[in-house]
Amino acid sequence: MLNIAVFASGKGSNFRAIQTAILNGSIRKAKIVLVISNNSDAGALVAAREFDVSAVHLSRKQFATDDEFNAALIRTLETHGVNFIVLAGYMKKIDSSLIQRFKNRMLNIHPALLPAFGGSGMYGMHVHEAVIAQKAYITGATVHLVDEEYDHGAIVLQRTIAVMPDDTPQTLAAKVQRIEHDLYPEAIRLFADGQIKIDGQHVTVLNTP
Ligand code: GRF
Repeated sequence: MLNIAVFASGKGSNFRAIQTAILNGSIRKAKIVLVISNNSDAGALVAAREFDVSAVHLSRKQFATDDEFNAALIRTLETHGVNFIVLAGYMKKIDSSLIQRFKNRMLNIHPALLPAFGGSGMYGMHVHEAVIAQKAYITGATVHLVDEEYDHGAIVLQRTIAVMPDDTPQTLAAKVQRIEHDLYPEAIRLFADGQIKIDGQHVTVLNTP
């Protein structure tokens, strides 16, 4: 059973999509036990409370040192029995101690086809602006494992969409979010059902559990 903590800084539409997939039985062997946000106003925290999921505001600013913050984060994860982390629009860097602790058990979703349009500064609308500026014909979404480099860990799943001549960063953002809401639950289902095999940077999706 995956006991998932979702880390989110923004509106939380990916959290909603994953939680909905769990509640409607599309993902059977996982539950979201905790939503953590660095932003007390995050829609993700509001959504968590709506779904009766523990919602915790935890920010570096509440602590004197990085170590104290990271210790509080780990305590909170332990208290809730978390064994899998899903980053969904989390805008803060994750400490490498936490990344190591959750090696191969921490996912992120990126609103483009990595390794293109990823890395430092490539977040939110910047990504879609860059896709249009480069005149790319396709874009999409990527679910990947988290390692110490931004948007760098092994790719788990990707889905593409066409960039149309009349697309704007805003229309692309909306189209990409729609596919994220299918892709992220699907990736989590594959992990929950034991259909993901990881060998370094290589991820294989197994057909049968
Ligand atoms: C998503 O588009 C994701 O690709 C990016 O942040 C956004 C989060 O959106 N990493 P939401 O808060 O889940 O609505």
